[in-house]
Amino acid sequence: MFLAALLAGCMMPGGHGTHADLPPLPPLVQPEPNGDVPVPETARDENPDPAIVEVSLAAAPTTVAYLDGRPATAWAYNGSVPGPIIEANKGDQIIVHFTNDLAEPTTIHWHGLRVPNDMDGAGRLTQPIPPGGRFDYRFVVPDAGLYWYHPHVRSEVQVDKGLYGAIVVRDPAEPALDAAIERLLVLDDILVDPASGAVDDRLDMRGMMMGREGNLLLVNGQSSNRAITVAPGARTRLRLVNAATARFFSLRLEGGAMVQIGTDGGLLPAPRALSSLLLTPGERADVIVETTTGATLTSIGYERAMGAGPGGEAALVRLVTSGAPATPRPLPAALRSIDVLAPIGLVGTSRLGERMAHHEWLFTINDATFPNVPPVMARVGARPSWTITNESDMDHPFHLHGFFFQRRGVAEWKDTIDVPANSSIEIVVDLASRPGAAGDWMYHCHILEHAERGMMGALTLQ
Ligand code: C2O
Ligand code: CU
Repeated sequence: MFLAALLAGCMMPGGHGTHADLPPLPPLVQPEPNGDVPVPETARDENPDPAIVEVSLAAAPTTVAYLDGRPATAWAYNGSVPGPIIEANKGDQIIVHFTNDLAEPTTIHWHGLRVPNDMDGAGRLTQPIPPGGRFDYRFVVPDAGLYWYHPHVRSEVQVDKGLYGAIVVRDPAEPALDAAIERLLVLDDILVDPASGAVDDRLDMRGMMMGREGNLLLVNGQSSNRAITVAPGARTRLRLVNAATARFFSLRLEGGAMVQIGTDGGLLPAPRALSSLLLTPGERADVIVETTTGATLTSIGYERAMGAGPGGEAALVRLVTSGAPATPRPLPAALRSIDVLAPIGLVGTSRLGERMAHHEWLFTINDATFPNVPPVMARVGARPSWTITNESDMDHPFHLHGFFFQRRGVAEWKDTIDVPANSSIEIVVDLASRPGAAGDWMYHCHILEHAERGMMGALTLQ
């Protein structure tokens, strides 16, 4: 619609693949191979009880170096981008003593975790923590998997500046995968001046419409194209989270094999061989990679809006082989049993759209912008079908707080799912009862510039 009109120039026969209307994507900086992929620190557990993980987090401005030796300003949890990893076992209680040392209000939202409503940290629906304020988050983590945490106030700015971290919830009863190493890869991108390393915060017309994308891919807060060293043939488990505000990471493994074993809500029923992996903002994946002679995990770009351009390719991570060859046992054929959820009742249809108002782009749900999107109503314990119809010419990754859902007929647990341009998906939401399940739960596009420009609503559970 509007985007089509904007992009019409580049769709014309004889067009040169560029258009005057939207500025092109900034070309990717490909750093020289340089050192190892950094391992984010794990948050220090201050509680001796093995079933309680008690940590302290503070959000504050800090100085980082996205390019070696070139300091840049960021906002971070405990001074590092990404923030410390919170590691727990399924069923543990997590206590987070949070201090806001920013000059503006913030919250922490626990993306994907089934927490009580008043612990969800969802900005305008719950408690924003003022500058200098403190808040103790307390919740139990009922499900194994990879989750992440980030602010829910001015999220397109606060997350973009570096406020995000990962949460790994382990299940000691998980089937043995015979992985020689496991690494967490938190993906992001940032727009930097390649000479000075300074972060460029400008939001141009393209950023306003597509969300802000950078020119430097980050893995665990450092420039991409670093190494993970593995034995030839050994199995490496990579847990990936896309923490970028807008970039879709489409990944291919060149020189090796890639098998997906898990997604947002933990393990899949069975391993699934992949030729490429699309990770929208907010999504996670648990993958196994193997190579005998070395491989490159490459970001190959993704066309997420007609004619907008997929962006360039860049090496994200290199798998470098060294040492004696390994021969891992075969992966288990079954990882977990998940029933396909049959819907009971429905909550209706949410239509994602966009429009121009006062020379600004607005992103809408059922033609309204947050907080004026009429709430979706449902009962605790229900299992409704919900249709998300994308009436716009670009993809929008749909995210629901506090509950897992399945794409109808697909036995895997998701909390964030791509709704491609001009298409519809039907999800079945498991609104299972638990303490604190009632309340207003946000749902929104996880392109955070879109969420903050209106594409957000509430699911009201009674
Ligand atoms: Cu990861 Cu409401 O967000
Ligand atoms: Cu969107």
